[in-house]
Amino acid sequence: MSVPALSSASLPRTVKLAPSILACDFSRLGEELSAISGADYAHVDVMDGAFVPNISFGLPILAAARRASSLFMDVHLMIERPERYLRDFAEAGADGITVHVEATQHLHRAVQSIRELGKRAGVTLNPGTSLEAVRPVLADVDLVLVMSVNPGFGGQKFLPASLERVRTLRRWLDELGSGAEIEVDGGVTPANARALAEAGATVLVAGSAVYGPDGGAAGLERLRAALI
Ligand code: DX5
Ligand code: ZN
Repeated sequence: MSVPALSSASLPRTVKLAPSILACDFSRLGEELSAISGADYAHVDVMDGAFVPNISFGLPILAAARRASSLFMDVHLMIERPERYLRDFAEAGADGITVHVEATQHLHRAVQSIRELGKRAGVTLNPGTSLEAVRPVLADVDLVLVMSVNPGFGGQKFLPASLERVRTLRRWLDELGSGAEIEVDGGVTPANARALAEAGATVLVAGSAVYGPDGGAAGLERLRAALI
């Protein structure tokens, strides 16, 4: 009797998908969230026009998304001194809050505050920032987000050096025995999703690849298919 061999192509872990609502049609926010109800998280990109050269949206849109959907709200704060607004975002409906190492002088305190608010605590860093910047807090976070484009805009091209950064972080987290997620954000498509998962990513953010020409659910399915 033959025993089916474990496919060498099988992935080491399941990968969650987090469509970014930055790419959706905000005049139809409720429908756009319904279209991704099969996703794991809704990724919410908050930009202040200071930390990044673009302004997206803030608390009222998060609160509206919260009312319209029961999805986990994965809030990515691209704002200066995010510690000023952690409570507000928690109260507006965030389930997880991720802050940039470059945006605060008190990274560890910000992470502690997010946990004290009862939310999943994440840290992230720009492509030009050394991974060493997050290393001191790795044991205290629930998620590390690897930016695979320079933050500020959707629809940019994936930076291939991000793959090696994911591999390094995976090694560091494994060494610590940490179960923290590794999320990747920027230029994620069906063409690179599998390589990212193989490198150790456990959450993939995608804006334009999901809310593309034929809408949320179809884009989500294409990404999922790339991960089988
Ligand atoms: C970039 C944002 C991303 C962006 C992803 O600053 O953090 O979440 O919306 O968009 P795509 O998938 O189009 O690169
Ligand atoms: Zn993001």
